[in-house]
Amino acid sequence: MKVLAIESSCDETSVAVLEDGREILSNIIATQIETHKKFGGVVPEVASRQHVEAINTVLKEALDTAGVRLDEIDIVSATKGPGLIGALLVGLSAGKTIAMAIDKPFVGVNHIVGHVCANYISFKDLEPPFVGLIISGGHTYLIEVKDYVDFTLHGRTQDDAVGEAFDKVARSLGLGYPGGPLIDKLAKKGKETIEFPRVMIKENNYDFSFSGLKTAVLNYLNSKKQKNEEIIVEDVCKSFQEAIVDVLLEKTFRLAEEKNLDKIVLCGGVSANSRIREAFLERAKIEDKKIYYPDIKLCTDNAAMIGSAAFYTYKSGKVEEENFANPNLGL
Ligand code: KG4
Ligand code: ZN
Repeated sequence: MKVLAIESSCDETSVAVLEDGREILSNIIATQIETHKKFGGVVPEVASRQHVEAINTVLKEALDTAGVRLDEIDIVSATKGPGLIGALLVGLSAGKTIAMAIDKPFVGVNHIVGHVCANYISFKDLEPPFVGLIISGGHTYLIEVKDYVDFTLHGRTQDDAVGEAFDKVARSLGLGYPGGPLIDKLAKKGKETIEFPRVMIKENNYDFSFSGLKTAVLNYLNSKKQKNEEIIVEDVCKSFQEAIVDVLLEKTFRLAEEKNLDKIVLCGGVSANSRIREAFLERAKIEDKKIYYPDIKLCTDNAAMIGSAAFYTYKSGKVEEENFANPNLGL
């Protein structure tokens, strides 16, 4: 079964062709990062316009690369939320129009479900059940994956998403956007010399909070500046990153233990973080669990993961009649 998938929820215009939900025939990603860099973050209206400009070219390239004609496609899909409303509408309109034109089913996909499904592409044998940790620029969810696209939500962030905390801290350090990869790189040269808070780590639930940590970093930087003391950026990055790692580890492994699940699946842009990957692997060795995370290219936004989610959604019979763009779509 060939799925044509479109992703346009934020600052990547991406189109992919997938075979049976796990095999990528093409996955073209046109990123707008360079455009938004100068503003220090994504400007919604600019993003929408760039999606409009890019979508046809990216679509053609995806079909050409896959060597597939539109009339060979079995399912058309696009991200319906969450994301920026104008950006979502571009991909969703394109997808629905194509589906109508070739008279094939249309599957609207929840972007967050897509992030989890990136792992089905990277690991051909991965099967539910497992614990899923979704860590991206906009979302932080701890879930139990009971079936391919059947999730039970156990915890979420009460304020900032993990990636948002990375991006905001990077910005306050003057590092640029997106901040996650830059902090990841600098932290490798740093030492954990500053004790930042591990917010909610001891609380008897699976929720997270990162805005307090972000504020603690800002306060630290301000106080150093006021006293005219040197700021070792690498150490700030390392100390901040370790605080994030500790809470993610603690809550995720606790859920795996409670549900007696031996597989832990990471996904979302922040799962590209080298220290998070390393820390999860280390802890997994001790607790006899298995860790999965997607290939780097499938961690951040891409249409292949949307295609995988569409395939499993279609197979599970959960296709919805209405597919409106929903910026606040949850899990
Ligand atoms: O999944 P994604 O592409 O977009 C959303 O759906 O939000 O995630 C983007 C986020 C950004 O916040 C970016 O800073 C973060 O992923 N990110 C990283 C790394 N690579 C990307 N964060 C930490 N370490 C990384 N290596
Ligand atoms: Zn995403």
